[in-house]
Amino acid sequence: MEIDRILLTQEQIQSRIRELGAALSAEYAEKTPIFIGVLRGAVHFFTDLTLQFPHPCQYDFIGAASYLDGTQTSGHVKLTKEVMSDIRGRHVIIVEDILDTGLTLRFVKDHLLLMQPASLKLCVLLDKPERRRADIAADYVGFTIPNEFVVGYGLDYNELYRNLPYIGILK
Ligand code: IMP
Repeated sequence: MEIDRILLTQEQIQSRIRELGAALSAEYAEKTPIFIGVLRGAVHFFTDLTLQFPHPCQYDFIGAASYLDGTQTSGHVKLTKEVMSDIRGRHVIIVEDILDTGLTLRFVKDHLLLMQPASLKLCVLLDKPERRRADIAADYVGFTIPNEFVVGYGLDYNELYRNLPYIGILK
């Protein structure tokens, strides 16, 4: 498999992340939020986004998996890593690479809501609204994209391509 074309360049991604960082800064400057990254696809987005947040904040990570392999979702989501922080009464921002069917983030959001955070918002780099199956919307979206399978900048196909600095569409 090779990359057919680049959907978002490194420059486009970084420029949009600066805008998202500014929007988050306006809302959370005084709130010492906890950014919770969803492993593993959000890793690059998480680090670049939090570097654009120049106020007190904390980091945590949660693991969830819904894809059995390849490009097809199994429809089942399981927790692969629990958060470490006590998020009760805290302002939480979930940071995820992509909102596709929404099953993963619906599961993650419901799981974290049980811990009674003061607020819980969702920040995704990519949104593929055409494929939505769960009732969920992101509060912050980097880019709304068409229904194509994308890789790079953390996103994988069978665990490969995560280290591309851009987002591309596979052949
Ligand atoms: P959802 O549960 O269908 O919303 O999918 C969430 C997860 O599926 C994401 O965190 C990704 O790991 C994976 N995923 C969905 N669409 C893509 C894609 O286009 N490329 C790579 N991974 C994807």
